[in-house]
Amino acid sequence: MHVTKRFFAMNALALLLSLVVTALAVLVFVASYTKLFGREADIHEWKRVFEARTGISEIKREALTLEFERLLEQPYQHTLSDRVKALGAHAIVLKNREVLFATGPFSAMDIEKSLLLTAGEPNQDTLELDGKTYMFDRAAYKLPSGEDGLLLLLAPVKPQTDFYWVVGLFTAGFFILVFMLMNLWVSYSFSRGIILPMTRLRSAAAKISEGDLDFGIAEEGEDEVRELCRTLEFMRLKLKESVYWQQKYDENRTFLVSSISHDLKTPVTSIKGYIEGIIDGVAKTPEKMTEYLETARNKAVLVNTMIDDLLLYSKLDLNQLPYHFEKSDLAGYFEDCVADYAYEYRQAGISLELINELKQPATVFMDRERLRRVIQNILDNAAKYADKANGKVAIILRETRTTAIVEIRDNGQGIPEKELPYIFDRFYRVEASRTNTDGSGLGLAIAKQIVEGHGGSIWARSDAGEGTRIMISLNKA
Ligand SMILES: Nc1ncnc2c1ncn2[C@@H]1O[C@H](COP(=O)(O)OP(=O)(O)OP(=O)(O)O)[C@@H](O)[C@H]1O
Ligand SMILES: [Mg+2]
Repeated sequence: MHVTKRFFAMNALALLLSLVVTALAVLVFVASYTKLFGREADIHEWKRVFEARTGISEIKREALTLEFERLLEQPYQHTLSDRVKALGAHAIVLKNREVLFATGPFSAMDIEKSLLLTAGEPNQDTLELDGKTYMFDRAAYKLPSGEDGLLLLLAPVKPQTDFYWVVGLFTAGFFILVFMLMNLWVSYSFSRGIILPMTRLRSAAAKISEGDLDFGIAEEGEDEVRELCRTLEFMRLKLKESVYWQQKYDENRTFLVSSISHDLKTPVTSIKGYIEGIIDGVAKTPEKMTEYLETARNKAVLVNTMIDDLLLYSKLDLNQLPYHFEKSDLAGYFEDCVADYAYEYRQAGISLELINELKQPATVFMDRERLRRVIQNILDNAAKYADKANGKVAIILRETRTTAIVEIRDNGQGIPEKELPYIFDRFYRVEASRTNTDGSGLGLAIAKQIVEGHGGSIWARSDAGEGTRIMISLNKA
């Protein structure tokens, strides 16, 4: 429910509950109060007063249907006397203020006073005589002689004010107390559902504004507040992601700048050196000049490849290259690879074989072209760092329940154990390889990016002097 609606509903409920609880409490209070103080008579008193009131007004009504002379007759006065006695009331018959008949011992003063009071206000139906309260009713007659006749009926009422005061005070006090408690409850439940989560949200927002994005915002509180929590958490994640990518861009740019100034500088300097050698006449013979130019060209090709690799790596790192995955048969794919490399390897005097240990054909989702870049670099490395007369390279295909594992094993110089963890880092080249300028050290870094882009992983095992095993695991389709 909408918070405002809920707020009103809860307040209304609190009010209603307070009223109901107060009503019940008053009932219980009145019951126990009358029990305790012997006031059960009060209820009867009420009844009696009611009966007296209806009784005297009936007598009055009846009397008015009669002639005033009838009121002076003995039989009527007897019945009147009995009837008012039964009601606990009194009757007085007057003619021109002179008492002709009275059922009670009223003084002349009392009668004067009651005549005065009963003749006035039409809405008033009680009067005080001698400290007692009476209800009254009167039947007035105009006699043919011009005189005034009057039947005055007086019924005493016990004053109940104390009791009503107590009940009234109790009702008001109890209602205020209950209503306050209910309000406290409404406030508490709202503070729990809105104010507390809001406070937490505010401190979360403050944290975010200070750049701290490493915390989760829990969803709590009322519906709207929960939604706000969710939105803020979403915002935090988005912000975190954008900060991550911002850092990544910055890192990448620094990386490109530093690699251009550092790694590309060496081959460019040497190209410059060879060309200056020719210009300055250091290379005198045409053979020497050809040799210098040849070297300069090779270096230029290397610079070109390095720049390509650098750009490729940077794009892969920034997730800027889309993959085109397709379902491919693993064995078929590697048969093609082996066929493509057969000639090159034969020329280098290295044997290349495919060992398929798959029990049944395995298919994986792969970007065939990108993956080819990976295999190419690993096979290039195997040939480049072969260093033995009978170089042997094998591609072995295996599988687990969910993954296909490709191992590319060579029997070359191997990689020292302490260097193994770093060979997938960009620009990392094993100590011994650094003298060999042919290579940028990006090959395996690119391979790692691509394999991870496939959701797979790549790692290496090696025994120095014995050879290297590069493993790739790819998820089966
Ligand atoms: N099969 C291997 N045998 C021995 N050492 C290897 C082998 N593969 C990689 N290495 C070592 O790991 C380093 C990193 O390999 P990587 O392919 O990333 O760079 P590179 O071959 O030197 O340069 P690039 O591939 O960019 O031309 C290499 O310099 C080499 O020292
Ligand atoms: Mg390489």
